[in-house]
Amino acid sequence: MHSKVSIIGSGFVGTMAAQRTVEKNLADVVLYDIVEDLPQGKALDISQSASIEKFDGRVTGTNLLSDIEGSDIVVFTAGFPRTPGMTREELALKNAGIIKTVTEKIGDYAPDAIIIMVTNPLDVMTHLAWRVCGFPPSRVMGMGGILDTARYKYFLSRELDVSVKDIETMVLGSHGESMVPVDSYTTLKGIPVSNYIQKERLDEIIERTKKGGAEIVNLLKKGSAWHAPSASVTAMIEAIINDSKRLFPVSTYLSGEYGINGTHIGVPVLLGASGVEKIFEITLSPEELAALRESADIMKKTFEGLTIL
Ligand code: NAI
Ligand code: 2OP
Repeated sequence: MHSKVSIIGSGFVGTMAAQRTVEKNLADVVLYDIVEDLPQGKALDISQSASIEKFDGRVTGTNLLSDIEGSDIVVFTAGFPRTPGMTREELALKNAGIIKTVTEKIGDYAPDAIIIMVTNPLDVMTHLAWRVCGFPPSRVMGMGGILDTARYKYFLSRELDVSVKDIETMVLGSHGESMVPVDSYTTLKGIPVSNYIQKERLDEIIERTKKGGAEIVNLLKKGSAWHAPSASVTAMIEAIINDSKRLFPVSTYLSGEYGINGTHIGVPVLLGASGVEKIFEITLSPEELAALRESADIMKKTFEGLTIL
């Protein structure tokens, strides 16, 4: 029997994640949206590429939330994207209502699902979804760090003119301006990149990474990135469905790790069939640890400011 992945929101990120998921033969996909006929049209279009891309999984579109029944994974991409000049935090209020209304019902139809949040502001929305649905912390997580890390790796590979495959790094903290690229784990095949890139230049690359989402928003004029975001979501789906125990930076609930309590924030986790199977507490420099805690504090304050629960 195929696994089942339901995607809430059939916009750019949701649809592309659906396409990537079936093309990798990971699962059947249900695309859900409030806009009538939209998910059905997108599902039909993806399905018609099956003979060319050689996949057997089914993609169906629906406006009925009950069709997510029995899902192994529910990916949440519904909401409004950022517009030029808008911060992720300003998005919070707009998207919180949608998250609350839908996640209240996820437990009715897919009580055993693992929820992957994508809607921004990511860490705040992940925390909200977790509070509303009442699932264990291991089964509600957010995608942000994989994307930020992928951007940082790309920029570093271009700077060094090397294959992106040989860059290792991790971006922790929130999926927002307070994200924390960890210098101490940023290497070219184990060699610190600081051996090759001057501090001032590295700082510029870090700054570009922090503003990576906004850079694309400004170029597109309408909407935000979806190719790299959908690839990041699909990497998480793949790790869960294949139980491949990948180590990824993921927004997860912390209860004391890194001295942080009661919020979702991006840290390295082990991702497998049960969701977040382990939180890694890696050694950070005092500056990195302080930045991670500050990032968590900002998320906590943004969540408290929502007054939606
Ligand atoms: P989009 O506008 O293309 O798609 C959003 C979809 O949600 C639309 O089709 C809309 O009709 C649907 N929707 C709105 N209210 C709904 C509801 N109550 N129930 C079901 N569907 C509903 O936006 P896009 O580009 O797909 O981005 C989606 C979200 O993901 C945004 O919040 C964006 O900021 C966020 N995002 C997060 C990233 C991350 O790294 N965490 C990366 C990229 C985007
Ligand atoms: C991004 O980083 C907007 O969060 C989205 O591209």
